[in-house]
Amino acid sequence: MKQLVFATNNAHKVDEVREKLHGLFELRTLSEIGCVEDIPETSETLHGNASQKSQYLHDRFHCDCFADDTGLEVEALNGAPGVYSARYAGPAKDSEANIDKLLSELKGKENRRARFRTVISLILDGQEHFFEGIVSGVILTERHGSQGFGYDPVFQPDGYNCSFAELSMEEKNKISHRGRAVEQLIQFLSETK
Ligand code: IMP
Repeated sequence: MKQLVFATNNAHKVDEVREKLHGLFELRTLSEIGCVEDIPETSETLHGNASQKSQYLHDRFHCDCFADDTGLEVEALNGAPGVYSARYAGPAKDSEANIDKLLSELKGKENRRARFRTVISLILDGQEHFFEGIVSGVILTERHGSQGFGYDPVFQPDGYNCSFAELSMEEKNKISHRGRAVEQLIQFLSETK
């Protein structure tokens, strides 16, 4: 089976995607192909970062590959933290500190609407393709649940009475930004195969 490299070592993401690629491609992670360096992510847009990562892999490892970049875009904060979501509270990329900062920035604000947006850049046979997934919702006033990662405990998707961190991985996958972007990626890959 053909291999497809996912530009990540995040076990949560790999689990989310590997199952869906089953039968189409064999998914390989960065550590599995021996890519141990930090791939630069210096763009100011999600598209730019996703592209930067997939191009980097393609240039050095000459493989079919894809990379994703996600941002939490909060209306009352003019789209912040956006492309800086991982480093919102500083370079340590500390999820707890990021949530604390977000809750404090939103204190007293009535509009708590937000969305997660994921952009995927795929390089297949040397050609680049983009896919995007969005899930809208609100930022809760306190943490709920212990599943997932990142901002999950404070994000409540529209149509639900609980946070992302209170959903199972399967439930979250069906409606999440990354789940939706990956659906499009899989659809494309199954059509081109
Ligand atoms: P990345 O581009 O997927 O690394 O995402 C950047 C940052 O967005 C992460 O460090 C998390 O803080 C946040 N993030 C991405 N995806 C999710 C998610 O599914 N739930 C909660 N937070 C997420």
